[in-house]
This record gives sequence, structure tokens and C-alpha cells, in this order.
Amino acid sequence: MGKERPCNLGLTFGDVLLEPGYSNVIPSDTNIDSRFSKHIDLFLPIVSSAMDTVTEDDMAIALALQGGLGIIHKNLSIEEQSAQVRKVKRFESVLIPDPITVFPDVTIKEVEDLMSYHNISGVPVVDNKGKLKGIITKSDLIFEDDKNKKIKEVMIPRGKLITGEKGISIKKAKDLFRKHKFEKLPLVDKNDKLAGLITLRDILKRKEFPRANIDKEGRLYCGAAVGIGEETKERAEELLSGGVDCLVVDTAHAHTKKVFDVTKMLRRICDKDLVVGNIVTGEAAKDFMKFEVDAVKVGVGPGSICTTRVISGIGIPQLTAIQNVAEALKGKVPIIADGGITFSGDITKALAGGADSVMIGGLLAGTDEAPGDSILLEGRRFKVYRGMGSVDAMEAGSKDRYFQTGKLVPEGVVSRVPYKGPVSEVLFQLAGGLRSGMGYVGAHNIKELREKAKFIQVTNAGLTESHPHDVKIIKEPPNYEIIR
Ligand code: IMP
Repeated sequence: MGKERPCNLGLTFGDVLLEPGYSNVIPSDTNIDSRFSKHIDLFLPIVSSAMDTVTEDDMAIALALQGGLGIIHKNLSIEEQSAQVRKVKRFESVLIPDPITVFPDVTIKEVEDLMSYHNISGVPVVDNKGKLKGIITKSDLIFEDDKNKKIKEVMIPRGKLITGEKGISIKKAKDLFRKHKFEKLPLVDKNDKLAGLITLRDILKRKEFPRANIDKEGRLYCGAAVGIGEETKERAEELLSGGVDCLVVDTAHAHTKKVFDVTKMLRRICDKDLVVGNIVTGEAAKDFMKFEVDAVKVGVGPGSICTTRVISGIGIPQLTAIQNVAEALKGKVPIIADGGITFSGDITKALAGGADSVMIGGLLAGTDEAPGDSILLEGRRFKVYRGMGSVDAMEAGSKDRYFQTGKLVPEGVVSRVPYKGPVSEVLFQLAGGLRSGMGYVGAHNIKELREKAKFIQVTNAGLTESHPHDVKIIKEPPNYEIIR
């Protein structure tokens, strides 16, 4: 064992800057694609915190539409949490797994009523065993005056239908639409039973969000938190059956025997990505590599609502924590830097320091999509943002994150943050700041950002100089706010 210094130096985002380097990179040309975990990519390296004032279904949908990812918190009953996951997975899904169907003997009148009730323009026709017999669309009915006619007389019959096999990729489905110029693609299994429907309309809708983070069936990616309590196995199973894409074991200190045991159990039952956190040391990172986790989450004490460091005396400044873990993992396991992002420049620093994505709570908690209550104070609108280690949140269910039972010793506060409007605006500014930073460094992508990054430590005077100083701001920009 080498000689340890009696006290190591730990740095965080405010302690450093990145030096500008020679650049031929224009910010808008930068590629900010990254990865969340081994099997989930990101087109925006931002993940929303699994907190009860940050991420429920609306936030998860909004994040994934912009290319990021939301992790639905676990201060919800198992049923509620998995219902929220299902809602995200179904949201404007390109694949309709269980479309509305009709039998061949229903009348035109009946099918027209059904279409107008559900606002759909076509319905697959099946027999009583679920086998595909044809499809009926509004355009097949335009010239049909006899509304009592059976639809089997007017539908496009099975023999003339173009179908896709169950599990077809969105890319292949798009190729079929392009080639055959039609609007509805029924999917069938090997017994010719209807197994889903893909519509051109849904594919076109998706064009509004070209960077949406979707699985191979075109559904938005969605993550969910689990704890380490007795119900964890049941919660995990229910979330998995609801279609969750990753489970995030959410604890304040993962490098413990208890979390190792839960991780081993979850690895056995979880065929989706498994993420564990939080850790801050290389030693913890190496231990989790042995459990074949798909990403690790880094951060002890950097969160804006967190009192862990002052209550317990424990933590590692966030940039050093990221570097510790990155050095140990050498790119083999993706890293999520969780907490402490106060400005977009911190994202640049976190990624340059070795993180693959950042998890954000406070900067997103004031948006429309966050579930926190709104409050009005002296004519300004705020939203409540509370630590999962605050008394209120722990009483609502998050005690196990802090290994607590009985009388509580809180490690977080209940706070308010300014109301910020739609989260898409905040994400736009955060991504813009990252791109700008990459331009200064001369990095086309995040890999280059890491390779070219040269950190310089600053003093307190340097930090003061970095912020607007010796002026009174009279017009707040959309990406800079100091909350006192
Ligand atoms: P923020 O983005 O700086 O607001 O930090 C959010 C992160 O703080 C979350 O993703 C959690 O990892 C962490 N966190 C949430 N609640 C608490 C708490 O009560 N105490 C300590 N850390 C917390």
C-alpha cells in the first residue's frame, strides 16, 4: 500500500474551469450523444432525479422526448409506480401492442361508430381466435352507402395485406411504408395471429421530436428507482412487467453489504439494465463491476437539498468523486454524475471529468413537468423541491435510502425553487451551455471533450470573477440565476 496523504484534496465544479483550446468546432455542430447505461443510449446526457418533487410520468416523458431519460421515484405504491412506467412506455408509442379490432361480421355502421369514438382511421379485422382476416380503413368506406353491409365485403382481405412480423424494428417498418405507400402495418406472429399495429401517422408524429430516446419498438425509454427494503423484489418484478428499461437502486451509500446483497438478487431477476448508486470511490466502483451492473451513479453529498455532508461529516467533492470512479472503471461501465449541477457549465465539467451523463434534481424541479406543489410568494411563483432524506420525504417512503428506521435523522431539506415553465426550455439552455463548452475546448463529441479537457483550479477570487460581479443584474437571462 502506498503512503496516503493525511488529507487528500477534493475538488468540485466551482473549484475548476476548463481551459479553452484551439478549436475548429462550432457549438451547433457538436455531437452530445452519450450513454446512460450499457444498453441505453442518450441523445442528451441529462437524466432527471428519482425524487418525489422531480420525476413522475410527465417528467419522464418530457426528458425522453428531448433525448434524455427520467427515473421515476419510488415514494409511490408499487402499483402507482409501475402504472406510471406503463404510461411512459405507451406514450404516443409507434407500436400499438393491442390495437382495437373487429370481427368480419360487424356492420359498416358499427365500425364507423367505433372509429369515430376512438378517433382512429382504421381497424384490423380478426376472427374469434385472433387470426388476422383483413383491415378496414375510413377510405374503404367513403363510397359505401349501405351501412348494414358486413365489413368482410369491403375490407382489404388478408391476402392483399402487407404485414410485418412480431418484433419488427421501427426502421424495417419505415422501409415498408416507404416502399408500399400505405398507412397501417398490422403485425402477426408465426400463427398469423394479430400481434400489434404500426401506423404511419404515429411515425410522422415522432418527427416532431427527432432526438427522442426510444427503444427498438419506438417506445420512450423509462427508468424507475427501487430501494433496498423488503418489498424491493416485488417492486422490481412489477416494474419489469410494466416494461421498465432500467432499475436504479437508489441509496445514499451503495458500498455496503446490504446493497451488495440487493444488487445480487436484482441481477438474477432483472433482464433489463441495472444501475446502482451512489458511490464516490474507485474501490466501490471496482466492487460493483464484479456484479455486472450496467452503470453506476456517483455522488455523496453534492445535491442542492442535501445536508449529508454537514450532518454526518461525510462526502467527496463531486468532480473528484467522478474522477475517482472514472479512473477505476476505465470506460467499462457508464457513469452517471448525480447531484450538484448548478449551471450548465457544471455539466461540461462533469462529462470532461469522466461522467457519461448527469443526473439533475434542483434545476428541473421548478418546471411544469415536475410534480412538486406550486407556491406563490410576494407575487412570484415557486415550486416545492425536497430532499428524499428530508423528514417529509422519508415519512412518505424514502427512509431506506438513508438506512433509517424509527426516529428520523434527516439528511435533506424542504425548499422552494423558482418556477421555470416547460422543462424543454431548461434542457435547451443546459444543452446549449454544454455545446458552447465543447466549442471552447475544440471537442466534436464527448469522447474528445474528455481527451482534450485541461482543468485549471481556481481560487475564491477566481470564482467571484467567474460570476457577474460589481453590477446589479436588471434583466435575468434564461440560463443564469443565483438563488440566495
Ligand atoms: P441536485 O441536482 O443538486 O438538486 O441534486 C439531486 C440529487 O441529490 C438527487 O439525484 C439525489 O442523488 C440527491 N438527493 C436527493 N435527496 C437528497 C437528500 O435528501 N439528501 C441528500 N441527497 C439527496
